[in-house]
Parts: sequence; C-alpha cells; structure tokens
Amino acid sequence: MTVESDSDLQGLMRIGQIVGEAVRVMAESLRPGITTKELDEIGAAYLKKRGARSAPILTYKYPGATCISINDEAAHGVPCKREVKAGDLVNIDVSAELDGYFADTGASFPVPPISPEVEFLCDCTQMALDAALEVVRDGQRINVIGRAVESIANKAGLHIIRDLGGHGVGRGLHEDPRNIPNYYTNRAKSRLSDGMVMTIEPFLTFGSGRIYTARDGWTLKTSDGQLAAQYEHTVVITHGKPILVTAV
Ligand code: CO
Ligand code: CO
Repeated sequence: MTVESDSDLQGLMRIGQIVGEAVRVMAESLRPGITTKELDEIGAAYLKKRGARSAPILTYKYPGATCISINDEAAHGVPCKREVKAGDLVNIDVSAELDGYFADTGASFPVPPISPEVEFLCDCTQMALDAALEVVRDGQRINVIGRAVESIANKAGLHIIRDLGGHGVGRGLHEDPRNIPNYYTNRAKSRLSDGMVMTIEPFLTFGSGRIYTARDGWTLKTSDGQLAAQYEHTVVITHGKPILVTAV
C-alpha cells in the first residue's frame, strides 16, 4: 500500500509496534527446552491481547500464529513439539493485522552458547538490513536494496538466499511488489516512492543459498543444511530515512 493520510500511518504504526513487541516477548521466553509450539502460543496470546490477528492464519490458513524457523530452516517454520536446544539459531517472524492494516517483522536469535560463526552470520545479516535501510528513499530504484545486501554478503563471504525477499505490505500481508530481491538485478528497476510500504528482509547463509520446501508443505530449508539468518522490518519510504514501522 501507499500511505496517503495520517490515519494510514497511525494504523500501520499501531500494528507495526504490536508485531515488533510480539517478537520481543517471544524472544524473551526463548530458552532450551521450550517447544516452538509453546513459543508460538506466547506470540498468539500477545497478539490476541492487543486485538490483532495473525496474518499467516488470516491469509494462508497457516498452521500457527507465527513462524519459528530453527538453524537450517530459513523461513515459515511451523510451530510444533520440537524443543529449542542450547546453541540453536531461532528465527521468529511475526505478521499480523489490526483495523485492516498489516505489518511484518522478524529476527534471528542465537540461543547460548553462541559460536563465533553464528554471531558472525547474525551480525552480517543485521548489517545487510541496516545497509538497505540506509539507501531506500523516494526516487531510488528498488534494486538499491539488493545492491546494498549483496555488498555486505560479498564482503563477508556469505551467500544470499535468492528465492526469499521483501514484499509490499500494508492492506494485506503480501502485496505488490511481490518480490523485492536481496541481490542486484536490473530487472528490479521500478522506483521507490514516497509513502510506499514494504518489507526489507535479507536472508544470508554460509551455504549455497538454495532452499527447498520440507514435507510439511510450509517450512523452507537450506538444501545443504547450512544455517540461515534473517532480519526484517516493515518500512514506509520517504524523501529521507524510511519510517521503521516495526522497530520497538
Ligand atoms: Co516476515
Ligand atoms: Co515478510
């Protein structure tokens, strides 16, 4: 969507803060022994308390209120009886709707003990998101995002999961542009414009970056079993720095 009024921005910010807080509350409960189902229930209860509805359930009848992806699961991990273990890398991604507005945010959380490799992967992926946030503004082409992410990944010797990217959001979970690449391509040359609402969500990995859909039909896993990390914000494009809708 494009923000056209103060009430649009207020509506977006309300749900943006809720999903941001939901990720924070879930991350605070993250510890060895908790199941992903229990974590999801914490997120679901938080969304309910704030009057928000899980966007994946609303949009795709997804079998969970949130997505929780561990280690080689890159995205859309389905909450289940799996227990979080010490040393796991756990991605929590929450999207939800309130009053017709949608926001989407996610982050990867290493569970101690944290290996230097995991810390490096997380730091670089966070840097890739930050680098993209620095360059998006009205009038720039969409591929400035991919260029920024690619430059961080290349310097770090990490690979981009090219099948996963950002997307328009706001009045629905996934809106046009449906795929905002995290790598540079001259096909992504349409221009960003003031008020555009979108997610920026780089996914980096030590491996090849190829993924496949697991047998549950939802979970996306790296083909080579390597770790993946993702950080995601919903933003509004402006003439200057973007508005971070989901930062808490
Ligand atoms: Co997300
Ligand atoms: Co997203």
